[in-house]
Amino acid sequence: MTRERTGLLIVFEGTDGTGKSTQLQLLARTLTEKGCTVISSREPTEGQYGQQIRALYSNRDSVSREEELALFLADRKEHVDTVLNPGLTAGRIILCDRYFLSTIAYQGAAGMDTAQILEKNAFAPDPDICLLFQASIQTGVDRITGGRGEELNDFEKADYLQKVASIFNEMDFPYIHRINAAQSIEDVSRDVLTAIEPLLEKLT
Ligand code: TYD
Repeated sequence: MTRERTGLLIVFEGTDGTGKSTQLQLLARTLTEKGCTVISSREPTEGQYGQQIRALYSNRDSVSREEELALFLADRKEHVDTVLNPGLTAGRIILCDRYFLSTIAYQGAAGMDTAQILEKNAFAPDPDICLLFQASIQTGVDRITGGRGEELNDFEKADYLQKVASIFNEMDFPYIHRINAAQSIEDVSRDVLTAIEPLLEKLT
């Protein structure tokens, strides 16, 4: 979709436990210190559909795959209309934790057709850059169950995540920039800054 590109849409993607949320916060802080106006957002959102999605985390089989996809799309539509498009028009830098690439990878891994998922997301503006965080599934699972002391929810089971990762691996959108997320937080953060620097130069 074309839009007036006065702002920037920076998307953080990857399988669970790859550290994208931590890196999003670090980047938000760095950009704010540089004087940029940053909007940090995420999907699923806190809105009505996002809340319904979170309620499914421990009981995914209570809805069909089609209903699940419809919820992610409804959540995204609301997010695009109320946060992303207005923010971009106002020239903001938007950092978004997950976006339609997650739908392609996660709902694709659940058996839905990936080309159709992409088509259904045509309303969503393309990212200016998508930072795709990559680390082994075991690293991510260890971070979730060890570091965070959490149990894996239905979206985080290892064999499912393996399928999700292979769909992410095959993606070749021109705006994807792969980040080695197996490194230390500092090294990943440095790679994130290096990746987005050319875009910031264009903005100023
Ligand atoms: P996550 O980033 O882990 O959010 P939270 O911190 O609220 O748990 O995302 C939630 C899960 O939703 C994650 O496992 C991936 C999944 N998901 C999809 O299956 N499809 C989508 O379109 C999106 C945005 C997320």
